[in-house]
Formats: sequence, C-alpha cells, structure tokens
Amino acid sequence: MSGDRVELGDLTDLADGDLRSFEEVGRYGLVVCRAGGELYALDDNCSHADTPLSEGRLRGFSITCPLHGASFDVRDGSHSGPPAWEGVPCHRVEESDGSASVVLADADGRGDDGDLPGAPLRMR
Ligand code: FES
Repeated sequence: MSGDRVELGDLTDLADGDLRSFEEVGRYGLVVCRAGGELYALDDNCSHADTPLSEGRLRGFSITCPLHGASFDVRDGSHSGPPAWEGVPCHRVEESDGSASVVLADADGRGDDGDLPGAPLRMR
C-alpha cells in the first residue's frame, strides 16, 4: 500500500553496482540496488512485458531488462525508450545505522507525500 514503510534490513553489504530482489515486498516485489553510493528501489517488473528487472544488469544508474533490453533509471524509474513505453514505479529508500527501509510509492511512483522520490517519471 502506498506510504507503507517496509524494513529491508542491513544492506551495507550491497556494493555499488549490486542489486537484490525482495520478492515479498510491494505489488511485484522490489529490486533494490546501490548506485553512486545510494540505495534505490524499483518495482521488480519491467513495464514492457512483466519480466523481473532483478534478473537484468545494472550499469551506473541504468538497469536493463534481460528480455528485450529496455532500460530504466533507478533514480526515478523513467525508461530510456522502446520497447518499454512507460517507466516503472520508484520507491524511496532510507538507510541509517546499517539498516535500510523503503517507503512504498503508488503505481505512479508517488510516495505518501505525493511527491516522486526522484525526478518525475517520463512518459515517451
Ligand atoms: S520485458 Fe522488459 S523490455 Fe520486454
């Protein structure tokens, strides 16, 4: 549910460029990754054809779907272009004292405050 906070535990072992799946969190599970030293979370579901993004590859701030190659910016869920036609919901991750939690956004990527966690989702 939008605005719910879910504890993810200690993710200090998640190195820059690593990603991890949390299958039980959110509507489709979450893919959580560390990029540029920060944690980011997206729905673990490509907007093109329902494939887990956690099975894809993370390079910089871009995660690439393993099925047809659409990529998404982990900072805001926006997509780079076809074959995906829209972004994926992005969730705010907070980390302090070795413990991480995520605030679940709604299907549009909006959090409990109505704001997007990063830049607005771009629809192309
Ligand atoms: S299922 Fe992800 S690009 Fe097609």
